[in-house]
Amino acid sequence: LSRDTFPEGFVFGTAASAYQVEGMASKDGRGPSIWDVFVKTPGNIAGNATGEVSVDQYHRYKEDVDLMKMLNFDAYRFSISWPRIFPNGTGEVNWQGVAYYNRLIDYMLEKGITPHANLYHYDLPLALQEKYGGLLSDQVVKDYADYADFCFKTFGDRVKYWMTFNEPRAVAALGFDTGSNPPNRCSKPFGNCTAGDSATEPYIAAHHMILSHAEAVKRYREKYQAEQKGKIGIFLDFVWYEPLTRGKADNYAAQRARDFHIGWFLHPLVYGEYPRTMQEIVGERLPKFSPKDVETVKNSFDLIGLNHYTSYYMYDAHQPKPNVTGYQQDWNCGFAYEKNGRPIGPQAYSGWLYQVPWGMYKVVTYLKEHYGNPTIILSENGMDDPGNLTLPEGLYDQVRVNYYRSYLKELKSAMGDGANVIGYFAWSLLDNFEWLLGYTSRFGLVYVDYNDLKRYPKLSAYWFKNMLERKNNV
Ligand code: GCO
Repeated sequence: LSRDTFPEGFVFGTAASAYQVEGMASKDGRGPSIWDVFVKTPGNIAGNATGEVSVDQYHRYKEDVDLMKMLNFDAYRFSISWPRIFPNGTGEVNWQGVAYYNRLIDYMLEKGITPHANLYHYDLPLALQEKYGGLLSDQVVKDYADYADFCFKTFGDRVKYWMTFNEPRAVAALGFDTGSNPPNRCSKPFGNCTAGDSATEPYIAAHHMILSHAEAVKRYREKYQAEQKGKIGIFLDFVWYEPLTRGKADNYAAQRARDFHIGWFLHPLVYGEYPRTMQEIVGERLPKFSPKDVETVKNSFDLIGLNHYTSYYMYDAHQPKPNVTGYQQDWNCGFAYEKNGRPIGPQAYSGWLYQVPWGMYKVVTYLKEHYGNPTIILSENGMDDPGNLTLPEGLYDQVRVNYYRSYLKELKSAMGDGANVIGYFAWSLLDNFEWLLGYTSRFGLVYVDYNDLKRYPKLSAYWFKNMLERKNNV
C-alpha cells in the first residue's frame, strides 16, 4: 500500500478539533463554550480532565505542523472555535483569536500543508445557549451564518476547503436525546441531564443545524466562492449497519438505522426532505422544510466529509417502549453481534467491531449508490489505545498500523468500484482530549506525554511516513 496506488492529487491528512487540542480555553480572549462549563463539574469527564491546556497546540502549532510535514502528510483538518472568534457568539470580535488562526494557517501554507477548516466541532458559545437555548432556537441560524461569513471573509483568501458542522447527528443525539453531552438535555433526567424532551428536541436541534449549514453555504456561494474558488460541505459520521439475518425484519432494522444515522442529514441535502422511514416513524414531531428552505438546503454542498470508524450487526428489536419516545427509541434496533455463535443483547458494543474494515467499503459505496455518488473526503478514521500506556510501550502500536492498512485497502477498493473519494484524514495526529473520556483514550499517531506535552511519533506515524513517501512502496 503506498501513496502511488491512490489517484494523483489524492489528499492525505490528519484531523483534530479546537477544544480537543488548542488549550488556552479561557485565555487570549476566548469566550466559554457549552463544553467549558460542562467539564468543570467533577465526575463529568474521566479524571475530571478539561481542555484548559490539552496538548497546547495554541503555542506548539509550529512543532505540530512540522510533524505533519515530516510524516509526509498533505493537509490538516482543524476546527475554528466560534467563541474564540466571537466570545459572546455575536458582536464583538476577539482579534487575538483571529490572530491565532492567521498564524496557524500562514505557517501551514509556508510548510506546504493545505488547511481544511471546520467551523463547528461541538463548542457552541455559552452566551447563545443562555440567550435563547442555542440550537433549539431558530435564532442560531443567523448567528451561525454571520460567524461563518466572518470566517470566509477573514480566512477565505487562504482557506479553500470549508466544512460547516462536525457530526450534527452526534450533536443532536448526544446533546438532546441521551443528554450525555452538552447541553445535556433529555426526557428522563439521569446523571447530568436537565429535563428536556428526547422525542422532539433532537429533531429541532438537527433542523436548525441543517438550516444554519444551508444559510452559510448560501452566503459562501453568493459572496465569496466566485473569487476565492474554495469548496464547502459538512462532516457526517456513519457506521455500517449489517442486518444480522437476511430476514425482512432485520433488513428493515438496518435500513432504519442507516436512515436515522446519515439519512437524517444527507437526505435533506440531496433530496430536500427527511428519509421516508424517519417521516413515517417520527411523524408530526419532525420539523418541516418550507419550499424556501428546500431551495437553500437541497444541493447545499460541494463535498461530503465522511467520518467512519466501526460497524454493527443489526437485528430487529424495535418494540414500542412504554415510557420514552426519544430518537434512540424511534429508530431503535438492537445492536447485536455474534460472539461464540449467539447474539449478545441489544445496544451491546464491543471494541472488536473496530476490526471490521469492510464497513469502510460499505459506507462509501452506500453514499455512491444512494446519494448520487457525491464527492467524498474520508474525514475521520482511526482507533484508540488505553490512556494509561506509558513510554516506550505506548509507541508500539502495530494494531493501529493493521487498522489503518486494512481500512485504507477497503477505501481503495470502493474507489476502484467507482466511489468519488478525493482525500483521507486520519483521526488524529496527536493524542488529545477525547470528550467524556478525557485523556484516558489515545487516538494519536503521535504519543503525547501529558507530564510535559512532549510529542513522540508512534510506529503508526512512521508507517504513514513511509506509505506517503512519493515513489515508495511499503
Ligand atoms: C467527532 C469525534 C472526534 C473524536 C473522534 C474519536 O465528533 O469527530 O467525536 O471529536 O475525538 O471521533 O472518537
